[in-house]
Amino acid sequence: MTQDEAKRAAAEAALKYLVPGEVLGVGTGSTVNFFIDALAARKRDIRGAVSSSNASSERLQKLGIPVLDLNDAGTLSIYVDGADEANAQLQLIKGGGAALTREKIVAAASRQFICIADESKLVEVLGKFPLPVEVIPMARSYVARELVQLGGQPKWREGVVTDNGNVILDVSGLQIFDPLQLEEQIGLLTGVVSVGLFARRAADVLLLGAASGVRELKAGSSR
Ligand code: A5P
Repeated sequence: MTQDEAKRAAAEAALKYLVPGEVLGVGTGSTVNFFIDALAARKRDIRGAVSSSNASSERLQKLGIPVLDLNDAGTLSIYVDGADEANAQLQLIKGGGAALTREKIVAAASRQFICIADESKLVEVLGKFPLPVEVIPMARSYVARELVQLGGQPKWREGVVTDNGNVILDVSGLQIFDPLQLEEQIGLLTGVVSVGLFARRAADVLLLGAASGVRELKAGSSR
């Protein structure tokens, strides 16, 4: 099974969590693209989608799925999104596609967060994937110095401007043994818009595509 087949299998498995007649949240990335494609066949079952990025909004609209503003949608039934890394507690690193702030907002506004990925994303300790941090442009160097104090090596993702007009620092060299605490610590730095750690709002379900099938991890059962 190729990595793309594993992503597609995880994406299709998420369809069983659709809540008929409601609005769902849709994230960003190559795994989510498979989900959006599969969702097209079920578009009559849902009221529409709130998307976490311009790229996903375009894909949804092309397939005839109504894209709604989060401010008009109320609480979302589910949020389906990928991850760059996940641990067994369903805490995640996200933001490889630079959409982390909107992803966090849509995840926070959803009753259930269904994370879809191929099995290579599951790790023992988060941090091998450089942790994305979205920063107000004028605070870039200041925040970078603070991140060094926390033991990381920040690198400016040059040329990338987020959908919110900000910049991204990718922080490598971290072994994140306490994701909740680090999320809070980095989130409190002045100039940080959001940090790509999803520990406070971890996933509720993790669907991992693998050659042996789709593995389902649930919050609580895997802790
Ligand atoms: C987007 O900012 C990220 O959080 C994505 O969810 C993440 O990069 C997963 O992408 P893939 O599905 O392409 O691996």
